[in-house]
Amino acid sequence: MTRVLTKRDVEMANQEFHRRFADRYDEDNQHIGGPNFQRVHDDIHSALGNRPAGRLVDLGTGTGFMLRVCQDLCSELIGVDFTAEISRLVPEDLHARVLIENTERTSIEPASADLITAYSFLHHLFDLEPTLREAHRILRPGGALYAGMDPNKRFWDFLKTHQDARGNPIIERESRVVTRIEKVMEDEAGIEPEITAAAEYQKIVLGGFEPAALQQRLEAVGFVDVRVRHDWFFGEAFARSELGDAVADGIARHLSACLPATSHLFKYLTVFARKPC
Ligand SMILES: C[S@@+](CC[C@H](N)C(=O)[O-])C[C@H]1O[C@@H](n2cnc3c(N)ncnc32)[C@H](O)[C@@H]1O
Repeated sequence: MTRVLTKRDVEMANQEFHRRFADRYDEDNQHIGGPNFQRVHDDIHSALGNRPAGRLVDLGTGTGFMLRVCQDLCSELIGVDFTAEISRLVPEDLHARVLIENTERTSIEPASADLITAYSFLHHLFDLEPTLREAHRILRPGGALYAGMDPNKRFWDFLKTHQDARGNPIIERESRVVTRIEKVMEDEAGIEPEITAAAEYQKIVLGGFEPAALQQRLEAVGFVDVRVRHDWFFGEAFARSELGDAVADGIARHLSACLPATSHLFKYLTVFARKPC
């Protein structure tokens, strides 16, 4: 019988996973560099209304990906992460303040941040609500919230029903992160499957986020102008390398235009929201 996980299990698994994976984190995660960096930078620029901002608070900062993305957009950078071993890898030349704290209860002053980010982070939480409430508390009225690279439950469900196409490199590649990630982490980093599963609780145990339900959860804690964007269509990395960026951009635009019918073809969700003035 599978054991029911508690909040403490999920938090301890996160610290264990990221402590052991810290030194390999940047080289193993493609979102850190390449075209994704510019894509996220453009997102933040537009979330800020194309104006420079003051304080950024990045929740679940890890090695500081979002701090790097925002360094030319925000004058003050704060990262929050409860795993000291990964946060020590935030580059010193960013002059960021890194708080080794739980994102549910930070020491940050209320209504002090212009921007809150959470990249590849929300699905690591046992429960979203306390962290979303904390984000709402520290954001100034009118400030922006941005959360990216969280799993779309519809894609995860869809891919689980298509495990029959072995030998198809596109499906193989997608399956690697969707249905086989625990095995991959065990083989490549020696991390036990139950630790990986608990660390990515909302993704591996609960199966990802329903787009409409995610929007409602943000609205329920008081965010407004909530928009959930679908990102990374099925096989997009393959399409970009084989067909080129112009064709891949066209496919993305077309599939987005066919939403919600094509929701299951997008791997990740990106959230834009605002605290009311
Ligand atoms: C997948 S990493 C994401 C790192 C970074 N945002 C990025 O995009 O590369 C998730 C991070 O969240 C941290 N984390 C998980 N739950 C947390 C919590 N409740 N409070 C603070 N940090 C947490 C982990 O320690 C880990 O460094």
